[in-house]
Amino acid sequence: MTKSQKTVFVCQECGSQSPKWLGRCADCGAWNSLVEERLQPQESGAAHRYVAAGQPNVARLYSDIEIGQSARLSTGIGELDRVLGGGVVPGSLVLLGGEPGIGKSTLLLQAAANMARTIGPVLYGSGEESAHQIKSRGERLAVGQAPLYLLAETCLERVLEEIARIKPALVIVDSVQTIFSLKFQSAPGSIGQVREAATQLLFAAKGQDVPIFLVGHVTKDGSLAGPKALEHVVDTVLYFEGERHHSHRVVRAVKNRFGAISELGVFEMTSTGLRAVPNPSKMFLAERASNAPGSAVLCSVEGSRPILVEVQALVSSSTYGTARRMASGLDQQRLSLLLAVLEKRAGLNLAGDDVFVNIAGGMTVDEPASDLGVLAAIASSVRNRVIAPTTAVFGEVGLAGEVRGITQAALRVREAAQMGFLRCVMPEANMDPAHRGEIAPDCELVGVRTVGEALDALL
Ligand SMILES: Nc1ncnc2c1ncn2[C@@H]1O[C@H](COP(=O)(O)OP(=O)(O)OP(=O)(O)O)[C@@H](O)[C@H]1O
Ligand SMILES: [Mg+2]
Ligand SMILES: [Zn+2]
Repeated sequence: MTKSQKTVFVCQECGSQSPKWLGRCADCGAWNSLVEERLQPQESGAAHRYVAAGQPNVARLYSDIEIGQSARLSTGIGELDRVLGGGVVPGSLVLLGGEPGIGKSTLLLQAAANMARTIGPVLYGSGEESAHQIKSRGERLAVGQAPLYLLAETCLERVLEEIARIKPALVIVDSVQTIFSLKFQSAPGSIGQVREAATQLLFAAKGQDVPIFLVGHVTKDGSLAGPKALEHVVDTVLYFEGERHHSHRVVRAVKNRFGAISELGVFEMTSTGLRAVPNPSKMFLAERASNAPGSAVLCSVEGSRPILVEVQALVSSSTYGTARRMASGLDQQRLSLLLAVLEKRAGLNLAGDDVFVNIAGGMTVDEPASDLGVLAAIASSVRNRVIAPTTAVFGEVGLAGEVRGITQAALRVREAAQMGFLRCVMPEANMDPAHRGEIAPDCELVGVRTVGEALDALL
């Protein structure tokens, strides 16, 4: 065996290397994640490429560096621009992750068509679909006349050549897991290949000042294949979420070198593509059964945007011995904690009951401000009393049963009032007397200090 044929075992989860096979990665603890790969030949080392692309890189004075060219480009999709922090930054590498069939290719083809019309030629490289397939999707999305180049290709070097030739204003690579480098001998989709592709495309993006979107497939447990390695390489990581059985989709930023990460884009999947939802609260509340016990409306703030969502709870006596506690759309631990607070501080007995809590419409809430709404829905189901459909609830709940103040209370109240809610049950700590009349004259604000007071006000 010659020296160049040496192999190494690489963990596909975290990228750590080991000279021999192990059943469990010593670094991240993942089972069965080590795969044999050829060692990377030395001359394709990443460090040389900047030099090869132009003159050798030298350190420059901070004050000499111009930032003029980093004006953002609009993708023509307002909700996507919002998540990106106000449009896409030239030279940035953006990773869009999502489960199979969620609509990644659809969203990016729409953005590609818009940018081809308004900014300049766009290269859409796909390693998964033929140009015909992409075009037939494009027909459905009404792409129309635009300088949009399709390239069905899995070879990284070919994609880079086409970027150099066409000099596009935007590049899409769908998906990063199908692209492989000829210089690198491990299998497509392996962590070595994915990282190599992402790194090379990063150089292309920076070198030619072109924004590049990478589509990334998400594994069953919800992480991007080769997650750590990729998330470090790219500038921005977006996740496309949604429920298979609902038509709405949410795009969330989990990392952004050019903007806040809490912003949310909300879309609806239609036969003509993804349509922006200007008023998410209206959509999430559309199917609410207003006169059923176990339902409460809470106001969650995602980035700068308040969204009203319905939380539903069902408490029924357990027939199978051990009581079940199921949370969908919120953290299971948080639910256990809230149930403990309800038992200890509000005197509800839930020991022999199954408790199911669901955030309607497939939405997820992870803010402490949603505690009180969840708790109210559970209490409403236990007591079989309806919470008035025109009441919204928000507040953080502490272990002593106290209701704690939250951020951006005024924003939440204003959204509730705009959606026609007549009453908000909220933390006393947020009852700023100066605000009371002016933010929402038609909405009654009820400040509460404890869980007990909140339930009295609601039920
Ligand atoms: N004619 C249609 N009408 C409405 N929705 C459609 C239609 N055709 C496809 N869709 C929707 O588009 C989705 C597929 O979108 P897309 O191919 O963009 O997803 P993707 O995330 O790129 O999937 P993959 O992981 O397979 O690449 C389907 O799951 C379906 O919801
Ligand atoms: Mg796709
Ligand atoms: Zn590992």
